[in-house]
Amino acid sequence: MCGIIGYAGGKQAAPVILKGLERLEYRGYDSSGIAVIDGERIDVIKTCGKIKALYAKTDCGAKPNGTVGIGHTRWATHGVPSDVNSHPHTSQDGRFSIVHNGIIENFAELKAELTAHGIKFAGDTDSEVIAQLMQYLYDGDVLGTLRLVTERLIGSYAIGMICTETPDVVYAVRKDNPLVIGLGKNENFIASDIAAALEYTHDFVQLGESEFAKLTAHAVTFYDVNGTPVEKTPYRVDWDISQAEKSGYPHFMLKEIYEQPRALTETVRPRIRGNEITLDRIALDAKNANTFDKIDIIGCGSAYHAGIVGKAFMEKYCRIRVNCMLASEYIYSDPITDNRTLTIIISQSGETADTLAALRLAKKLGSHTVAIVNVMESAIAREADDVLYTHAGPEIAVATTKGYTTQVAALYLIGLKIAKIKHTVSDARYNELLSEIEKLPNKVQTILDDISQIKDYAEKYAEHKCVFFIGRGTDYAASLEGALKLKEISYIHAEAYAAGELKHGTISLIEKGTITLALVTQSALQPKMLSNIKAVQSREGTVLCVATPKTKDVGSDADGLLVIPDGDDDVTPVLTAVVLQIFAYYVAAKRGCDIDKPRNLAKSVTVE
Ligand code: BG6
Repeated sequence: MCGIIGYAGGKQAAPVILKGLERLEYRGYDSSGIAVIDGERIDVIKTCGKIKALYAKTDCGAKPNGTVGIGHTRWATHGVPSDVNSHPHTSQDGRFSIVHNGIIENFAELKAELTAHGIKFAGDTDSEVIAQLMQYLYDGDVLGTLRLVTERLIGSYAIGMICTETPDVVYAVRKDNPLVIGLGKNENFIASDIAAALEYTHDFVQLGESEFAKLTAHAVTFYDVNGTPVEKTPYRVDWDISQAEKSGYPHFMLKEIYEQPRALTETVRPRIRGNEITLDRIALDAKNANTFDKIDIIGCGSAYHAGIVGKAFMEKYCRIRVNCMLASEYIYSDPITDNRTLTIIISQSGETADTLAALRLAKKLGSHTVAIVNVMESAIAREADDVLYTHAGPEIAVATTKGYTTQVAALYLIGLKIAKIKHTVSDARYNELLSEIEKLPNKVQTILDDISQIKDYAEKYAEHKCVFFIGRGTDYAASLEGALKLKEISYIHAEAYAAGELKHGTISLIEKGTITLALVTQSALQPKMLSNIKAVQSREGTVLCVATPKTKDVGSDADGLLVIPDGDDDVTPVLTAVVLQIFAYYVAAKRGCDIDKPRNLAKSVTVE
């Protein structure tokens, strides 16, 4: 996804902006650029390729000169990645320069209208219409004109803008795309993500839907959609910038894999007091927990996979129907949802457009919504009725790891709390599960303390073209995430399959050299899994088992065996996830892939 940063302060803007763009690289991009006001003019430098190309063109930030500017990393949606299509885009008269994240759906008609009035476009992006429309509608009031422009835009946008008429000001406006305002000491920032400004300030304000901000070095003023000044309450982010750095790891992904014990501890520990689960502001009690006749869990990518794991757990212990749906499917499915549905929305970034749209639809249909989110004050966190934060810290690698495992842990807490309220779990079983959930960080640490066997298997199987992940019950749910992790970062075709389903078709793909990872952590299902493993091997497929000390005998029939720490069958997905993350990481490392920024992917897709 595109990244935006803007600066108004006493320093030279270029070095601050370039550094900020580096912290936004993880969002995925193919070009970048910077625009700075230098006296009477706006100086723009932009280029296709990675940030290092922009450093080269700006003499490592020595230019452009000036203390007020904007920067952008572009993830192409309209118009090929090219220098001219990179942002910032400048109006034909050179007066306005803008950076944009989102999609202007009516850009074609706007472009036709502006072209008919003699305005010449430099490139073929949707975003450029914003700059040209500013010129076309400009009436001497910069902020007022920006409001007129946004009234003409259909679609989603986070916009940063500078103007030669007001050389000390950065403007910002957002709709459906994230934009945060960083409040520094005699300097202020706009950014798509706090990581871009965290080095300079821990105090931020989230710009609300259709709100405007006007920043100078010494002041920030906010306005609502009508241009009326509004007061905003800053919040303090306690993340340290080092958390948004690699700190000696070769990749953010590996660092974040190793941060999971701490992330799980900080997500779970503060919510367990004695043997009571407290879920922050979530108002779950005997009354409302019994008004729900079903639970919908909604997310995208790994967040959806966390929901599948949560569904299995909640159906087993809350004895309530749980649907888990992809957000992009839910929003167009005319969902059967009302005030008797509890909707759990899962999103690490809290900004995924499909998931935000699903949240809004569920609310419109009367459902009570609870968001499981990692980024504070993100759109989904702000718009849900309740929010349960995963305290995983900033997650920079595109492929989520600690984001996923903390989401699963949060779902366990919510499920167990509801089960206790509804008396659908015995006290003894409740206490067992609570204890197991509390032990997850230490068990993950045990896995991380010796990953050599996982690494060996990964390097052994790294050149295979096709990998299957199979499991039954909660192992099938866990295998979905294992397959995605491998696909995302190693570009190997991988598929998760319900082990019992393999024989109904897909087994035709199994041949000599096909690798199958079989998750066998469910003791009751071990005999069935053994027959599935045999079926794969009888077609000369290679099987690597992931088992527990209770089920590891299955390994004697397999070609390889990895054993996770002993524990409760119902919470193994957090442990198997870590094993499969490490497996995927070392396969991708062996294949020389761009592990933190896999091709074509973005950390948070803020367009539908
Ligand atoms: C994808 C990410 O773009 O979005 C995945 O690459 C993520 O890692 C998915 O699971 C959903 O993102 P989020 O922020 O809503 O959890």
